[in-house]
Amino acid sequence: MTVLEGATVRLRPPAVEEYPLLFGWFNDPEVVAPYDRFSVDTMDSFVASVESASTDPSSLAPRFVVERRTTPGPIGFVGHYKPHPVLEYLEVWYVLGDTAARGRGYGKEAVGLLIGHLFATTAFARIGAVCDVENVPSFRLLEGLGLRREATLRSALFHHGRWHDVYAYGVTRPEWSARTPPG
Ligand SMILES: CC(C)(COP(=O)(O)OP(=O)(O)OC[C@H]1O[C@@H](n2cnc3c(N)ncnc32)[C@H](O)[C@@H]1OP(=O)(O)O)[C@@H](O)C(=O)NCCC(=O)NCCS
Repeated sequence: MTVLEGATVRLRPPAVEEYPLLFGWFNDPEVVAPYDRFSVDTMDSFVASVESASTDPSSLAPRFVVERRTTPGPIGFVGHYKPHPVLEYLEVWYVLGDTAARGRGYGKEAVGLLIGHLFATTAFARIGAVCDVENVPSFRLLEGLGLRREATLRSALFHHGRWHDVYAYGVTRPEWSARTPPG
């Protein structure tokens, strides 16, 4: 079992008894809203996606829950996926389902742990992320970790009744290695 320990948060695989909580976050528009949409259709399909994720590089399922080191129990979850059938890189995603835990640095620390883990355990030379241009906490998190805004994908995401522009961010392996402090 892979467990990633940071200064204040821990990333670990989801436990079976936590699936209902995580499924609820995926389907709660107040958690993922207003900027994104991660919903799946049914609890059964959610469980199947979580349990098959380790053999599916393109899976959008949660790969780790995020918990405070001082207080057990999920406050969020993160994942990674290969977004393109030809291009060789990974993208990360992240949600703090416990909205009271937001704005305290947990998200940034969790995503930093995840990106560091991916560079340490895969051969990919680039890790990316995409976010709605209106999602200020998300792109500030990415910029705080040293990812660069590389593009604006116009009208790439549909939610809340309209098309939204999306920023594409990325960091290369040498850039990540050169960070101070290293992630
Ligand atoms: C995006 C999310 C994971 C950020 O996690 P977080 O723990 O709240 O963020 P952090 O406390 O680590 O802060 C990260 C950066 O965003 C900034 N930030 C956090 N909340 C903010 C807010 N409400 N408004 C503006 N900036 C904010 C912080 O100041 C920090 O920037 P800095 O390093 O330049 O100071 C969290 O807000 C969330 O779960 N949002 C809903 C789901 C979502 O949007 N996921 C991403 C989809 S692309």
